[in-house]
Amino acid sequence: MVTAYDAPSARVAHEADVDLILVGDSLAMVVLGYDDTLQVTVDDIAHHTAAVARAKPNVVIVGDMPWLSFHINTEETVKNASRLVRAGAHCVKLEGGHKRVAAVEAILDAEIPVMGHIGLTPQSSNVMGGFKVQGRHVDSAVLLVDEAKALEDAGCFAVVIEGVPAEVGARITEALTIPTIGIGAGPKTDGQVLVYHDVIGLENRFKPKFVRRYGTAFDDQAASLSAYAADVRSGAFPGPDEVYAAKDDLTEALGLYGSGANSTS
Ligand code: KIV
Repeated sequence: MVTAYDAPSARVAHEADVDLILVGDSLAMVVLGYDDTLQVTVDDIAHHTAAVARAKPNVVIVGDMPWLSFHINTEETVKNASRLVRAGAHCVKLEGGHKRVAAVEAILDAEIPVMGHIGLTPQSSNVMGGFKVQGRHVDSAVLLVDEAKALEDAGCFAVVIEGVPAEVGARITEALTIPTIGIGAGPKTDGQVLVYHDVIGLENRFKPKFVRRYGTAFDDQAASLSAYAADVRSGAFPGPDEVYAAKDDLTEALGLYGSGANSTS
């Protein structure tokens, strides 16, 4: 699974043969420029889910339920999940364990498949004291296994496990019959998820330990733009092959003598 937030990245994900696209609330940080994920709204996720869906990628599209979209009451939770489905998501993901069982059940009752998300859940960063690895000690590790089982029992079809020691990722995966998808949870989860901009190297500022960059998109794109700017400044762009041909000889008619704009090819 990889995140994607717009039509071009959805087309790339399709071409790359990934299994699932997550329109994640990481949108807030990697695309919209916020410092955390708490600022992103259902409108934002729906807008970007629709852009992804319009590219018609042949993959499962997961719409991420943002903070406060499933915390208030069941009715709002189901309405918010349905908005993401109407925008093009096939299913939704939400953060949290035991506390979120009622939300999971209500969404499932509306025939929308749900993916769980436990461990380092960024929407809880203020109560976790920051973006901190979870489950490092026996008690908290055992609790995470329980949380995962509660989500499986509630009917989740898969669970994302984020920011836990590799042993905990492995133990949760062993304990569940549904697939686990890890991010910073070691190699023993059933699948992996990374943020698109991290994978292609478009995010080049902060590199979390668990990220592997497979490309140098930031540098490549900056090099392309800088070559373009240099060509514009030197007059090398546009060249003779990059202009439209006139049907008649317009040079004289338009009084363009001396301007150099006389291409009729
Ligand atoms: O929003 C997101 O990108 C996520 C992944 C990190 C799992 O929730």
